[in-house]
Amino acid sequence: MRIGILISGRGSNMTALIKAVKNCEIPNSEIVIVISDKATAGGLQIAREHGVETLVIERNGKRRAEHDAEIISALKTKSVDLVCLAGYMRLLSDDFIKAFPWQILNIHPSLLPSFPGLDAQSQAFEYGVKFTGCTVHFVDEGLDSGAIIAQRVVPILEDDTPDTLSARILEQEHRLYVEAVARLVSQKYEVKGRRVIFKLNAQ
Ligand code: GRF
Repeated sequence: MRIGILISGRGSNMTALIKAVKNCEIPNSEIVIVISDKATAGGLQIAREHGVETLVIERNGKRRAEHDAEIISALKTKSVDLVCLAGYMRLLSDDFIKAFPWQILNIHPSLLPSFPGLDAQSQAFEYGVKFTGCTVHFVDEGLDSGAIIAQRVVPILEDDTPDTLSARILEQEHRLYVEAVARLVSQKYEVKGRRVIFKLNAQ
């Protein structure tokens, strides 16, 4: 599996994926490129330190379709067959989704469909739910609305703040993203409606 990762920021989920591919926790895979839409993204340097090729494709006032076309072309040039969004702060155009059908994943810091969009951890905190978590899902045309691949629950503690909660969710994100990608590349699955159903290996 040739994996491309899209980032906009610090890239801690990206780092978890890079390490997991290196130590074969994610089997038969290679991270072939990390693309950022921000030249200042901290994750770029980390990717380079791990020997992963990086590319910056900034928006610079381009229309979304045009910007996405550049990214699609870079991913296709590297023969990417799985795109992992890891803190990539833009919605993808329909053309992007069509270029990689059922091949784009995202990680979101809440139990979707609750609290989509920005600041999901604070949204959950303010709402007063007792449990939140993180979700790995396929990316479709909507906002954090694609079919769910894996989720992990994180309790909200009495003495939590949005920051302490975000930190505990992030720890679980790193594990969940690795587990979900490892499962996708090594196990057969089918999608029935919105349900992503993994087959037992014996089948
Ligand atoms: C993570 O919380 C992720 O769930 C969300 O954006 C954040 C990115 O963090 N989509 P990082 O860049 O992976 O550290």
